[in-house]
Amino acid sequence: MNILSPSILAADFSRLGEQIKEVEHAGAKYLHIDVMDGVFVPDISFGMPVISSIRKCSDIVFDVHLMIDRPERYIKEFADCGANLINFHLEATEDVVGAIQRIRFLGRKVGITISPQTPAKAVEPYLKLVDMVLVMTVKPGFGGQKLIPECLDKVREVRAMVLEKGLRTDIEVDGGIRVDNVNQALEAGANVIVAGSAVFKNRISDNVRAFLEKMQ
Ligand code: DX5
Ligand code: ZN
Repeated sequence: MNILSPSILAADFSRLGEQIKEVEHAGAKYLHIDVMDGVFVPDISFGMPVISSIRKCSDIVFDVHLMIDRPERYIKEFADCGANLINFHLEATEDVVGAIQRIRFLGRKVGITISPQTPAKAVEPYLKLVDMVLVMTVKPGFGGQKLIPECLDKVREVRAMVLEKGLRTDIEVDGGIRVDNVNQALEAGANVIVAGSAVFKNRISDNVRAFLEKMQ
């Protein structure tokens, strides 16, 4: 099944709860939550207090994308504030297995993420240990960028590895995905689709429905 994960980075933060309910009612199953620390990426977004607070207004699956340096330092905090799935960047830590184990120990789903400069092969040693691979389709750090087509080739490579190993790993894509290019991502082998500006700009419910129609 294909899943849409709207990224709240593009939401109107003064109406966050309302907008989350709107994407949920329109049929989105995941909510993508981008945490940026100003070190791993230049920007700072938001952290645990915001996540705990929106946890109270929705039961949607919280797909937390940690763009933070040494994510292993904060796994417990993100699990405690309501993350169901925790994605961290391979580029951000020297202890990938430790971070994976910590997330598992807390009973959350685990995702490993690769930025555009990281080859698909980098995820191979960890594939059996994780639930998801998140392939960034833009440089992490900002919403509203254009999809880098070469990143979809990496999605194909990851899907081939997953199939070859007989796994059922989810493959998520994030960055520059719109209704008019989502098919390319699905064809490449992604099954979880992040969309920020393409969902939260203008009419949210209509945007979600348009995505879901293309993703059936
Ligand atoms: C970028 C973030 C994305 C971002 C996507 O670093 O990880 O999740 O919100 O935004 P769009 O869909 O606008 O490219
Ligand atoms: Zn993201």
